[in-house]
Amino acid sequence: MCGIIGYIGDKEKKKIIIEGLRELEYRGYDSAGISVFSDNELHSFKTTGKLINLEKKCENFSSSGFGLAIGHTRWATHGKATEINAHPHSAEFSNIVHNGIIENYAILKKDLEKKGHIFLSQTDTEVVVHLFEENLLHLKDSTLAFKETIKALKGSYAILLITKKENDKIFYAKNGSPLIIGTDGSDIYFASSSTPLIGLVKDVCYLEDGEVGYMDKNNFKSLKNIIPLSGTKISSQKDGYRYFMEKEIYEQHKVLQDTISSRILEDKIELNLPKDFLKDINSITICACGTSYHAGLSAKYIFEREAKIKTDAIIASEFRYSNPIMRKDELFIVISQSGETADTLEALKLANKNGLKTLAVCNVENSSMVREAKYSLLTRAGIEKGVASTKAYATQVMLLWILGIYIAEIKQSISKENIKKQIKNMNEAIKATMINPKIHDRLKKLSKRYLHGHGFFFIGRDIFYPLALEGALKLKEISYLHAEGYPGGEMKHGPIALADSELFTISLMPKHLLFDKIKSNTEELASRDATICAISQEIIDIADDMVLIDKFDSYMEEFFAMMIVLQILALEVAIRLGNDVDMPRNLAKSVTVE
Ligand code: M6R
Repeated sequence: MCGIIGYIGDKEKKKIIIEGLRELEYRGYDSAGISVFSDNELHSFKTTGKLINLEKKCENFSSSGFGLAIGHTRWATHGKATEINAHPHSAEFSNIVHNGIIENYAILKKDLEKKGHIFLSQTDTEVVVHLFEENLLHLKDSTLAFKETIKALKGSYAILLITKKENDKIFYAKNGSPLIIGTDGSDIYFASSSTPLIGLVKDVCYLEDGEVGYMDKNNFKSLKNIIPLSGTKISSQKDGYRYFMEKEIYEQHKVLQDTISSRILEDKIELNLPKDFLKDINSITICACGTSYHAGLSAKYIFEREAKIKTDAIIASEFRYSNPIMRKDELFIVISQSGETADTLEALKLANKNGLKTLAVCNVENSSMVREAKYSLLTRAGIEKGVASTKAYATQVMLLWILGIYIAEIKQSISKENIKKQIKNMNEAIKATMINPKIHDRLKKLSKRYLHGHGFFFIGRDIFYPLALEGALKLKEISYLHAEGYPGGEMKHGPIALADSELFTISLMPKHLLFDKIKSNTEELASRDATICAISQEIIDIADDMVLIDKFDSYMEEFFAMMIVLQILALEVAIRLGNDVDMPRNLAKSVTVE
């Protein structure tokens, strides 16, 4: 989604901004721009498409000495992905970049138009810079004018503004969208996520909602909650893989080891989560979006089966406006790779407001959700660059499984033998994510038979139903083919009407969970001429195609093995179709608007 970078200092500003934006590239965008303020001049460059276009556009520009700079990658919300709609937006003598959505922009715009302001873009952002200049006209003080401007805004925003009236300050405001300020001890850096700041700065401040002000080279210390920025720059190489997504699929067995490390011992589970916090809970609500929601839905099956605790998994955007009933004895879990997804974050805030016990299962340390939740558990997947989530999902499911057994132990709803068995299965499940090259080859060959038709059903039962949802989502995200996930038993209640030979059914058929049931459901489809591709460790006679996984002793091992098959199948279909696997059309890695 949109990305922001800002800089105050003496270094080559264009370079710093573009390198920062490049670190945010994987998050998805459709246009980009920068503004540099030096020698009393504002220089702006904007383009549609990739950063390389922006680099070309400003290749002859450089600035030396002290100055200010802001940059932006835009994922269109208001107005198409055109050069005019790209940020920074300008009024007469000021430029602005903005992440988020200004909900009341239309009223503000009308008002400003009456006062003679002329707008060039279709964006909500452009009104903010005009409003600032209008306020400055009356208030004669940039800081007051900026604060007055921010007061008038409704919606979510992370904003940086530079103006020719102040040659050493960048104005900032944050509400709902992340914004970080960092320093190396001398220069000042801004970014909408910590990734571009790693290696550049020593200390950072994650701004809180409602913070508004200006930053120059001397007032960093006045910020609240300054903390050191840990972490080392990870390799942004594909290491011989064709796409980051492929690399991330292959990394899963390794990151899963990190997820379990120091958390599962031979016969018990240790989580950095006080037992008192979980002791009195009587139900669990899980809130998340997209793939993280699918991980949450899997957890429902585990929590209810092992911990015997009533669990609901709800899509965050649905939860927020449904006047949900919230009980104080309820554990409220949010799941998120980024920790910044707007709907999930707002659901978490709502739960906190209502006094629930809140827990974030998240991949990003210091993200908004980790800071907002009472407790958090990190999934330890490492930075995930592919927009289509793979290793983050695997680590979420694993961590939630661990949590389920931990809660079961606290609630005394699980025997010592079963804990041991679960731990053994967890270790085995990680082994099941080691990719057998023969299976990858098989999927590569198979993928050419699944490029046409009028759609895909992914079916599964029990915990394999959310896995079917996830398989369908992976395929549609990167191949743009229509795919739906269904519980196997639901097909005859309507969807089976679509069955014919051009309707491809990917059936998840674990030997160790409801095998006969899913077999019947698959047969029902086969007998209506649907093309069946079965994923199983058993040979399935009625299938047109088969992906045979290795022999496993538990259904969770089969779960993780099938997860790999679904990810690779989506990858290979998308590659054959010539799509940009890592940055699929219309999608963003981190969805910070609702
Ligand atoms: O960062 P989050 O886990 O909160 O993101 C939630 C979804 O936007 C995300 O899982 C999305 O569905 C992915 N593109 C899935 O591959």
